[in-house]
Amino acid sequence: MSSILDGRPALAAEVNAVAETAGYLWQKGWAERNGGNITVNITDQVDDAMRAMPALTEPTPIGVTLPNLKGCWFYCKGTNRRMRDLARDPMANGSIIRITPDCAHYEIVADSVVRPTSELPSHLSVHNYLIGKGSNYKASVHTHPIELVAMSHNPEFLEKDVLTRLLWSMIPETKAFCPRGLGIVPYMLPGSTELAKATIDALKEDYDVVMWEKHGVFAVAPDVMEAFDMIDTLTKSAIIYRDACSMGFIPDGMSDEQMQEISRVFKLPK
Ligand code: 13P
Ligand code: ZN
Repeated sequence: MSSILDGRPALAAEVNAVAETAGYLWQKGWAERNGGNITVNITDQVDDAMRAMPALTEPTPIGVTLPNLKGCWFYCKGTNRRMRDLARDPMANGSIIRITPDCAHYEIVADSVVRPTSELPSHLSVHNYLIGKGSNYKASVHTHPIELVAMSHNPEFLEKDVLTRLLWSMIPETKAFCPRGLGIVPYMLPGSTELAKATIDALKEDYDVVMWEKHGVFAVAPDVMEAFDMIDTLTKSAIIYRDACSMGFIPDGMSDEQMQEISRVFKLPK
């Protein structure tokens, strides 16, 4: 079967990076069944031939109106599709969609009718927000990292920046490579427009990764691999914390001075 990726190496590279990341999510154990979703803003890759392609579906409501998405195109993981299947065949387990001129609907363009993720309201609201602030971020990744989700079951960790400080203090790299920390979004129904709104509110507090309480994390970055790396780095810290606790002690953590030194030397925002 022919694919929209044929003869479009730059677009194929973007989609293949999603597939590679999906494989990592599965290997990490963060992607049970259809768990997690990825979207990438591919508007920069769109050419005239793509614009002329007919839609495969009627316009479907997004659930929210997103004015900054006028003319935008996205690769989206399919709803109910498995990351481990997407890793092998991204165009059979995801699709390319475009936003209709009213900015309230999408239509599927290629390769086949694979309905986008149930978290589309959150993903598209976030892309709308990123474009609005002139960001170069193109990728959003939602996944279910075991240790971070476990930590979100402790109310103490859900107070503002408690988890951020704890995770930063486990190993210097975490602050260096996830310098904005981990925002907290209280538990809300998966796939809801309320969750989408709360995610934007948390990102506005200047986080690149937010915790969806008792559910998972949502990360934004210039590309999909960088979004994965931040989640991976935070999870490494969570595992160090857990392993210290399971050895029978609460880990000391780096001191405030040591963390400030990291910020100074690496010129970090916080
Ligand atoms: P989808 O299969 O619809 O992407 O849902 C997975 C998920 O993690 C919902 O939060
Ligand atoms: Zn989820």
